[in-house]
Amino acid sequence: MPAQKPPHERDASTSGATGGGKTASLAALDLFDTDPAELAVDAIVIGVYSQGPDEPAPLLLAAGAESIAAAFDGRLVETLRLLGATGAAGEVTKLATLGTITAPLVVAVGLGPEPVGALPATEALRRAAGSAVRALSGTAKVALALPVDEDPAKETVALRALAEGGLLGGYRFDGYKSGSDARRRRPPSALSIHVPEAADKAAKAQVKRAVAVARAVARARDWVNTAPNDLRPPEFADSVAAAARAAGLEVEVLDERALRRAGYGGIIAVGQGSEAPPRLVRLGYRPAKAGRSVALVGKGITFDSGGLSIKPAQGMWEMKSDMAGAAAVAATMLAVAALKPKVAVTAYLPMAENMASGSAYRPGDVVTMFSGKKVEVLNTDAEGRMILADAIARACQDGPDYLLETSTLTGGQIIALGKRVAGVMGTASLCERVRAAGEAVGEPSWPMPLPEDVRKGMDSEVADISQVNAGMDRAGHMLQGGIFLSEFVADGVDWAHIDVAGPAYHTGEPTGYLTKGGTGVPVRTLIEMIERIAEE
Ligand code: BES
Ligand code: MN
Ligand code: ZN
Repeated sequence: MPAQKPPHERDASTSGATGGGKTASLAALDLFDTDPAELAVDAIVIGVYSQGPDEPAPLLLAAGAESIAAAFDGRLVETLRLLGATGAAGEVTKLATLGTITAPLVVAVGLGPEPVGALPATEALRRAAGSAVRALSGTAKVALALPVDEDPAKETVALRALAEGGLLGGYRFDGYKSGSDARRRRPPSALSIHVPEAADKAAKAQVKRAVAVARAVARARDWVNTAPNDLRPPEFADSVAAAARAAGLEVEVLDERALRRAGYGGIIAVGQGSEAPPRLVRLGYRPAKAGRSVALVGKGITFDSGGLSIKPAQGMWEMKSDMAGAAAVAATMLAVAALKPKVAVTAYLPMAENMASGSAYRPGDVVTMFSGKKVEVLNTDAEGRMILADAIARACQDGPDYLLETSTLTGGQIIALGKRVAGVMGTASLCERVRAAGEAVGEPSWPMPLPEDVRKGMDSEVADISQVNAGMDRAGHMLQGGIFLSEFVADGVDWAHIDVAGPAYHTGEPTGYLTKGGTGVPVRTLIEMIERIAEE
């Protein structure tokens, strides 16, 4: 039986602004400025804040719900309370309108405690939109009448958050379910957002941006969620190359022969244990007027068994997500092609499958890397840094101003910062900029140091450097990864390594705009960084 095509290649429903490559089907998005009470949609979403027990009312309606409250003759809050609404963040309460307004359903989504400022925090809006849309599978047309400020600067931020949250909450990976099962209760196909002025140019530009961003995130999620037998390095490279070409990007793919000839020792070593050979994909975006140049690097281990230093069976299936960094970078390039910022961006995606076999690399091997450095392998499960070191050294040959690299690099990231906060290592100023950009877009991250003593522990007796601590001491585990990579960054390049081992893959129940599986982190941070650099 031939292998099934990955879903993003089978789904012909949308061919996106990303340039005609087939993407996950997200809802169509538009704006409205008419009365929400008179809108012909299947459901209207309003916001409710929670209040403490001492407050006069248990719930407070958020801005946007006024005309709907009026249609309910002032009984809307009391009715929602009877239905159990508390306004807690993410809570969804559905109410049949029985003819009081045009839409048959009102959905109250909790925004948490009433904010001190006029508007809820951006991330609260993003999550609320996601929760509401997620709860509305099976409903075709949904309108959001949530608080959007009249002040243009604040409107921009709120609108962007609602659009991204709503679109991503409606993301679904139909994956591999056969027959009608997958067709049941589809996510909403159309999403309308209430704004003060729907014809406003700035508002329309925000919609365009949000669609490009959400498409990119969905594309990254699709790649991550695709089964690892359907997405080995050659297939991943083909899929990325096809999407990138369709988006008008420059594409170069090095196959195993080209990699060997050019001396990519790290990529070859990791890839040699698999029947599916490794790849290095390079994507280029070069606008007519570019100020700065940015290199993006993403880890593309399509499956990480650990190799001969094999992983335990429990949870090994999650290692299909070990290409989330490469997926995020490739998807970011598609968004860049759509958004056209004034900055040159080049992506480097090393792809390999880390398997245990008679041809696998072994602990004890000394590998000559692309940069010429010799690395002593102590644990074949530290494969990410082997392929990334080669890609980073290659990226530095092109002389970028900035280098942003992202990878599901270490379990140590999860130990140190948990499942939601990425670890950032590199040039101090750039790390801080990544943290700030991540905070703005709802992808939290935190700067981490590269201590001298941890570097010392990686001195090798036989080669230039060990791949991990020479005594396999796990102290400063995440930092060892960052330090190893730093050895391959050229002098003078501002760089940051973003370890997303936890944040890239969501194993818990869906929440806010996060669905199960791939999250698309850190696509939104990378896009935000590129746009900020373009403004320099
Ligand atoms: N891909 C893993 C890291 C990982 C762990 C990602 C959990 C997502 C969730 C990486 O290749 C790995 O195996 N790292 C080892 C390194 C060690 C052998 C030095 C780790 O973190 O344990
Ligand atoms: Mn590994
Ligand atoms: Zn790995």
